[in-house]
Amino acid sequence: MNSMQRVKVSNALTMAPGQSVLIKGWVRTKRGNKNVAFVALNDGSSIKNIQIVFEASKFSEDDLKGVTTGASIGVYGELVASLGSGQSVEINATSMELYGTADPESYPLQKKGHSMEFLREIGHLRPRTNTFGAIFRIRHSMAFAIHKYFNDKGFYCLHTPIITASDAEGAGAMFQVTTLDLSNPPRREDGTVDYSEDFFGKSANLTVSGQLEGELGALALGEIYTFGPTFRAENSNTPRHLSEFWMIEPEKAFYEIKDNMDLAEDFIKYLVKYALDNCMDDLKFLNDMFDKELINRLMSVIEDDFVRLTYTEGVDILMKSGQKFEFPVSWGTDLQSEHERYLVEKHFLKPVILTDYPKEIKAFYMKQNDDGKTVRAMDILFPKIGEIIGGSQREESLEKLERRIDEMGMDRKTLWWYIETRKYGTVPHSGFGLGFERLLLFITGMTNIRDVIPFPRSPRNADF
Ligand code: 4AD
Ligand code: MG
Repeated sequence: MNSMQRVKVSNALTMAPGQSVLIKGWVRTKRGNKNVAFVALNDGSSIKNIQIVFEASKFSEDDLKGVTTGASIGVYGELVASLGSGQSVEINATSMELYGTADPESYPLQKKGHSMEFLREIGHLRPRTNTFGAIFRIRHSMAFAIHKYFNDKGFYCLHTPIITASDAEGAGAMFQVTTLDLSNPPRREDGTVDYSEDFFGKSANLTVSGQLEGELGALALGEIYTFGPTFRAENSNTPRHLSEFWMIEPEKAFYEIKDNMDLAEDFIKYLVKYALDNCMDDLKFLNDMFDKELINRLMSVIEDDFVRLTYTEGVDILMKSGQKFEFPVSWGTDLQSEHERYLVEKHFLKPVILTDYPKEIKAFYMKQNDDGKTVRAMDILFPKIGEIIGGSQREESLEKLERRIDEMGMDRKTLWWYIETRKYGTVPHSGFGLGFERLLLFITGMTNIRDVIPFPRSPRNADF
C-alpha cells in the first residue's frame, strides 16, 4: 500500500469506475450494519467526502473498531459506480491502514451543528469541519488570485518590513517590539526609557501598514503591491476588527485619485468573479448553510457600477435620512459602520466609493485639496461590511507634506526618508489598502472576522 501514489479525494471523485486508488484522510462519519460499513472520508481537497464501503467478508468488526469519527486512515480499493445521490463513485475497500484513532468519548467534533463560538474555542480542530475547510480553501484561492491579478497587470510584489520604527497611519495603535528587560529597563536622567540601548537602538513596533515603504517602491518600480500581515493594537472588540490582519496595498506612480478608484473597483470585481469561477462548491455550501443570499450578492457586485460621491454628499444624505443613528453624524465626524452601511444597504443598494474626506480625520500623507478642508481620500464601502478599502492620492508636494506633518504634531526627523521622495523626483501617485479578512467576510458571507482567518488575534485572545 505504501508504494502506491495517494490520490486526493477531489480527483478520485472525477475518475472513472474500475480503477484502483489509495486514499488517505479523516473519517467524518461511519454507519452501517453487520454486513457492511460505510465511511465518509475527507482529506481537505474538497467540501465533498468520498464514501468507502467496507464489506464484512473482508473486514471484521474488530478491524474497524478504531475507524470512528475523527480517526485518520488510508484505504486502498476499487472505484465503483455509486448508487448514492450526490456522487458518481465510491470505493470498495480491499485494505486499510489506521494511522490515528480519535476516542469517541472525547473527540469534540462528534455531532454536527456546533456553534461558531464553540468552534473558536477549538481553533486547532475547527479546520476539519466542512465550514472551515470551505473558508480556508476560499482564502487560499483569493490569495492566489490577488497575486495573479497584479502580476498580470505588471505590478511587482514588494515585501515591506514587519518591524518598523514609524507609525504609517499616525494613529498610534501599535504593538511595541523590544528586547529590553521590562521589569528593569535602562532609563535616561529624566526617567524615561532609554531606547538607544534597545535591540534596534531606537523604539520599534509591528507595522500597521506597508504603505510608506510601498511608496518608496512605487517611486522607483512604477507599480508595486504589498501583501502581508499588519498589526493594530486598538482595543476594538468588534466582528470586523482583528489585532493581526492581512492587507493588500497597491501603490502606483503617475496615478491620480480617479485611476485609483477605477483600479480598486476592477480589482474587487475580479476577485469576486474569481471566487465564483473557481470556488463554487465551497460557496454553494456556505450559501446553503449560512446565507441564502450569498451567491446572489456576489453576482450583483460584479454587475453594478459602484456609486461614487464625496464625503460631503454622503453626510448630507445621512443627515437628511431621518434615520436615528447611535452616533450622530455631522460634517467633520468620522463615519461609523452604521453610517457606512446605511449608505450602502438602505440608500444606494450597491457598493459606494466615498471621496474627499475632511483632512482632520485622515492620515498625514493624503493629498490636500484646494479647498483647504478636505483631502483626496477614497474609502470603499460594502454591504454587510462597511469599509473594505481605504486609500488616497498621496501628497506629492514637499512643502505641503512638511506643513501637514508639523500641523499634526508628528516628527519630521523619523520620517526623513519618506520626505526625501518629495524632494527628489516627486510624482503624483496613489494607492489603497484592501483588508484581506474584510474581503473574505464578503466572499464567504461569514459575519465574524474571527472566522475567516485560521488563528485570529484579538484583544485578550492569542490562543493557538
Ligand atoms: O483604512 P486603513 O487604515 O488604511 C491604511 O492602512 C492605508 N495605509 C492603506 C493604503 O492606502 N495603502 O486600512 C485599510 C483597510 C481597511 O479599509 C480595512 O479593510 C482593513 O484595512 N482594516 C482592518 N481589517 C481588520 N481589522 C482591523 N483592525 C483593520 N483595520 C483596517
Ligand atoms: Mg480606513
